[in-house]
Order: sequence, then structure tokens, then C-alpha cells
Amino acid sequence: METITINDKTFELSLPYEKLQQRIKELAEQLNDSLANKNPLFIVVLNGAFMFAADLIKYVNISCEITFIKLASYKDLHSSGNVKTLIGFNEDIKGRNIVIVEDIVDTGNTLEYIFEALRHHEPATVKIVTLLFKREVFTKATAPDYIGIEVSNEFLVGYGLDYNGYGRNFKSIYKLKK
Ligand code: IMP
Ligand code: MG
Repeated sequence: METITINDKTFELSLPYEKLQQRIKELAEQLNDSLANKNPLFIVVLNGAFMFAADLIKYVNISCEITFIKLASYKDLHSSGNVKTLIGFNEDIKGRNIVIVEDIVDTGNTLEYIFEALRHHEPATVKIVTLLFKREVFTKATAPDYIGIEVSNEFLVGYGLDYNGYGRNFKSIYKLKK
């Protein structure tokens, strides 16, 4: 089994690159179907979603705009629970069809924060696309609209996801070895 080491932790291969790409193409097709003629504004949540967003949006072939926000909520291996915006919205959101692009939805605190911040800007609709979803630990009412892969409650790195800032550069996704 392929493993990687980041600082003090060992991780083993969980979701190989090819599997991610296959699923991402399917997600993009879903978006192309349901958002045709909606001129969506994709809001990519940095840092984690940068790699997923870059791959996903290459397969999106409808008229759309793309922007980025930067948030932080994780420290070490656990969600800290308090989310803070580092770089906020500056596009015109009023009346737009928004699609939030996330790497992973865990407790849902980050999503809730983004929803709340967006609400004041009066978008027409807000949808969520996430590569990964930890349904077991999700505590909120509304789950993401477009889900790539459901994962169990394990700590993942690679393909944009980090462990204390490291590991984002790996092409595949690895899980913490027990
Ligand atoms: P939430 O606010 O608890 O839903 O957490 C969402 C954010 O925490 C994600 O956008 C990720 O940046 C980070 N996160 C959640 N789970 C993991 C993980 O397993 N590995 C790395 N980062 C994670
Ligand atoms: Mg994130």
C-alpha cells in the first residue's frame, strides 16, 4: 500500500488521482446540465479547493464566471469550529446564481458561514458543489447539492487538502494511518 509521511504522521492511499478525475468529469456534466442558461458565478473556497476547482471548471462548458474567497477553520487534525473570512467577496452577487466550490464538507460550519455572508448580498440561488462529504459528522440542515465522493470520518490529505499546511501538492488523496 502506497504511503506518504508528513511531519509526524503517515498516510495511506485512499482515493487515487484517476478515480478523482473520473468523478470530477461526471460532476461537471451534472453542472453543465443543471446550470445551462443560468450564467453561474462559481465561488471557490481557498486554499483547499484550488486543485479540485481547476480540474472541475476545465470540464464546465457553459457561460460562467469564477471568483475566489479564502477562509480558515482547521487547526491540526480537527475543525476549530470558528470560521473567519480572510478574503471576502468583491463580485456583484445580487440576483446571481451562485455555486460554492468546496474541497470537503465536514461539520458544515464553513458552509453555514458562507451562506450567512452571501445572504446579505441577495443572490438568486446558492448551490454547493463539494468533492468530498463527511456525512457522518455533518451537523447542519442542508447538505451539499452536488457531491463527488462520500467519505467516512477520517483525516485526509492531498489534492488540495492539507495537514498543517503541508500535503496539498499530492495528486491523490491519502488517509491518516491508524
Ligand atoms: P467544516 O467547516 O467543519 O465543514 O470544515 C470544512 C473545512 O475544513 C474544509 O473546507 C477543509 O478545508 C477542512 N477539512 C475538513 N476535513 C478535512 C480533512 O480531512 N483534511 C483536511 N482538511 C479538512
Ligand atoms: Mg476548505
